[in-house]
Amino acid sequence: MCGIIGYTGKKNAEEVLLKGLSRLEYRGYDSAGVAVLKAGELHVRKKQGKLSVLAEDLKRAPLAGNTGIGHTRWATHGVPNDINAHPHVDHKRHIAVVHNGIIENYQQLKEKLQKAGYAFSSDTDSEVIAHLISEQYKGDLRAAVRTALKQVKGSFAIAVVHRGEPGRVIGARKDSPLIVGLGEEENFIASDIPAVLEYTRKVIYLENGEIVDLSGDTCVICGPKGKKIRKRPVEIKWDISQAEKKGYRHFMLKEIFEQPEVLRNIFKERIKGGRVEFEELAIRDTQIRKIKRIAIVACGTAYHAGLTGKYMIEKYAKVPVWVDNSSEFRYREPLVGRDTLVIVISQSGETADTLAALREAKDRGARVLAICNVLGSSIARESDGVIYTHAGPEIAVASTKAYTAQLAILYLFTYYLASVRKVAMTDGRSFLRRLKRLPSLAERMLAQYHSRKNILARYAAEFHEYYLARNNKSCFLYLGRNINYPNALEGALKLKEISYISAEGYPAGEMKHGPIALIDENPWVVCIAVQADTYEKMLSNIQEIKARGGIVIAVVSAGDKTLRDSKMNYLIEVPRAPEAFSPVLVAIPLQLLAYHVAAEFGYDIDQPRNLAKSVTVE
Ligand code: M6R
Repeated sequence: MCGIIGYTGKKNAEEVLLKGLSRLEYRGYDSAGVAVLKAGELHVRKKQGKLSVLAEDLKRAPLAGNTGIGHTRWATHGVPNDINAHPHVDHKRHIAVVHNGIIENYQQLKEKLQKAGYAFSSDTDSEVIAHLISEQYKGDLRAAVRTALKQVKGSFAIAVVHRGEPGRVIGARKDSPLIVGLGEEENFIASDIPAVLEYTRKVIYLENGEIVDLSGDTCVICGPKGKKIRKRPVEIKWDISQAEKKGYRHFMLKEIFEQPEVLRNIFKERIKGGRVEFEELAIRDTQIRKIKRIAIVACGTAYHAGLTGKYMIEKYAKVPVWVDNSSEFRYREPLVGRDTLVIVISQSGETADTLAALREAKDRGARVLAICNVLGSSIARESDGVIYTHAGPEIAVASTKAYTAQLAILYLFTYYLASVRKVAMTDGRSFLRRLKRLPSLAERMLAQYHSRKNILARYAAEFHEYYLARNNKSCFLYLGRNINYPNALEGALKLKEISYISAEGYPAGEMKHGPIALIDENPWVVCIAVQADTYEKMLSNIQEIKARGGIVIAVVSAGDKTLRDSKMNYLIEVPRAPEAFSPVLVAIPLQLLAYHVAAEFGYDIDQPRNLAKSVTVE
């Protein structure tokens, strides 16, 4: 959470910083600020609210200068206001710092510094860094940063400038991401690649404990012990246009509609001559054969993908799988060892809990495989092997295309696992052929949702009216069974995160064990009842809900006559597909339903309140 950027070169720093921050705003957006160096002076401007508030202010009174740092905040310590916004300065206003992470011992440090006469102005943990650097400063900013950070416990990615050292930006990281962008007579640091991609494709990933010292034409990197090290930049292949809205009203909508293409690319890239290939896997077949069990560890949407993976792997590859939330796994002495494959799933590759879970698993001797979207992210780098989803940048906070891409990879990995372990799959021959049909099925389904007046938009409008008429009393329940149970959780998560409507996901078979008590005319119940072994059971669940006055949105396979004839309140048809692959097709209209509900309520869909795209703090 929080995005940071630093620039030094010949351009107008303010402009570069604002543009970069606009590409990092997905990481946090409750306040923003910049600090710019000019002719021995340090100018700081920061504002509560979205980046646009700061941009307006800077338009009225611009800051000139060619070196600076910037920040977009997701509050941890201290409410979002102008004072708590970054950059933070030391008491002399010589040093400015932007920080992403959490300083765990900030209270002790603050008390120590206050006793030594340093006056604090904010409630943040980050401000201590500015004062610590000031305390250590003896004319060399890099040396001061290095010594100051020795006292700091917790996670950080920082960028620092000093008014007496024009053209110099220092960056450092521990457990929060930081990349260096190398340009022509200009250099950058940032939390993430899109912030610099307009200017350069040459990027260096900084590791924990490293410090970078930038000027317009030099880039010095020092290791944890202060020794200079050489690091080779990587060339970023993807395009900045992938991070644009391309005519869609929101990134979320654009990303939903990108799914057929993402799936098509995944299958094209991974299925070769009737076999599945994972070039970057780096885990040998002999090791895969020795695996006794698999633990899948992830957060949020990625966790839901993991739950679907369990159904697939156990059914087809016959390896026992359990699935954990990363935040639980890391603190509960999990029984993993050399015979366990731990699969961590993460879109961003920077989620703090998943990263910590990965480290815990490695410490216990397990092999770790990452399924990850962001190239070179911390999770991808620290795992033994990685399979990239290559879904392109996902900007909307609500994850959509990353989810279905994770599902696609899990299908392929299941097939790969079964092949390597020589497990005969019941429908092995047709598996890949049928899987490859998913992109066209998804494309055809999405075609009917292109118009603004599509059926899901209508359902959303009716829900909105219903909600208002009932004094905001309605809520949503999502029910599914078997391999579509995770989709019930995911549908509910999508809705609550962008529309702030209470929504719960449940395995339909659990209804009678409690949730059925919720049913009256208030909740809208989304029942996933596509063609499946448990279809009849779902029909009974639906009847039980209808009998108690509940409003049902049934998600059915195309051509389902039973539910069409039995007076459902609302129907959503998805193309017919084998049950195992239906989760991809079911997920898409549920994403769209959530999208349209949030749009009806007029909420900020891409940047919902209280959330951030990558959760890099615990
Ligand atoms: O980057 P990750 O996949 O590790 O992120 C995990 C969750 O934070 C993420 O999926 C979150 O739940 C999304 N906002 C859901 O839409």
